[in-house]
Amino acid sequence: MSLQTELNEIMSRKGYSQTQVARAFGKSPAVVNQYLQGKYQGDVGSIDELARSFIAREADKEKSRRITPRYIPTVTSRKGIEVIRLAHLDGEINVLYGAAGLGKTMILREYASRHRDALLIEADPGYTARVVLEELCGLLGLSKRGNMHELSEACIAALRDSGRLLMVDEAENLPYRALETLRRIHDKAGIGVVLAGMPRLIINLKGKRGEYQQLFSRVGLALNIGESLPQADISDIAISMLPDAENPDVSEALFRASNGNARRLFKLVRGVSRHSDISGNAVSAGAVRKFAEMLIN
Ligand SMILES: Nc1ncnc2c1ncn2[C@@H]1O[C@H](COP(=O)(O)OP(=O)(O)OP(=O)(O)O)[C@@H](O)[C@H]1O
Ligand SMILES: [Mg+2]
Repeated sequence: MSLQTELNEIMSRKGYSQTQVARAFGKSPAVVNQYLQGKYQGDVGSIDELARSFIAREADKEKSRRITPRYIPTVTSRKGIEVIRLAHLDGEINVLYGAAGLGKTMILREYASRHRDALLIEADPGYTARVVLEELCGLLGLSKRGNMHELSEACIAALRDSGRLLMVDEAENLPYRALETLRRIHDKAGIGVVLAGMPRLIINLKGKRGEYQQLFSRVGLALNIGESLPQADISDIAISMLPDAENPDVSEALFRASNGNARRLFKLVRGVSRHSDISGNAVSAGAVRKFAEMLIN
């Protein structure tokens, strides 16, 4: 089969347009069009090279399964779900904190997907009290116009005795005034609130010198996920993505190489499974260790 025929075949099978292929080649659509028709007047050899590597990459993609993160119930994630459930049932302020990449966001999203009455806000470093209120108004379908007091009162009216739950992810980014605003909504509307974030969230809640007692004293439960996940959790998550992780050597290597971090585990599994899909060999403990050397974090 000529390269042009092979390329044409991949394009029709995958529905790629000439423009998409041109973008992948770093050439103009006109060049690709002429090349495919065998009419290209320029350096055909260089386009052949591009086509060859494009075809090889597409073949590799087809061989490797796409691994996507999917929530797996583990010891830690079950505890997290339970702490959220209690905040929801009791109308409490509960906290979930721990190092980056241990599954806090996964837990919150899982709870939100199971309970349509749970509201989820993902904060970022620019979040002020005003932005939090606007975000909440957006979720509740309320107008974002008005001063802070008006927005806050509108949210309280909409949430009062609703039995709903408000979850805020990356809450370590919230300044004190934003946390205070949430406390007020909790007090006045009587709804549960869950704050999730990195360990410094706890310091933000207490105040550096313990000056925020009024806020901190309202926190009911605080689940500390810590710095890493237990081996059983890492193993359960690994097996869900990679059947080869049933092998105890592979499982052990993944646990060690991941440092008990689920995000790092995901990158490891994606890397080694792609390699094994392409080579046709099962994933080995050695392959895990080798791939781990290339991961920056
Ligand atoms: N319960 C789980 N089931 C399956 N995969 C998980 C689970 N928990 C974590 N992971 C994996 O770890 C990755 C990181 O998880 P997540 O984004 O929830 O961490 P995080 O604690 O919110 O981190 P950060 O503090 O950086 O936001 C996920 O994308 C997923 O691949
Ligand atoms: Mg997160």
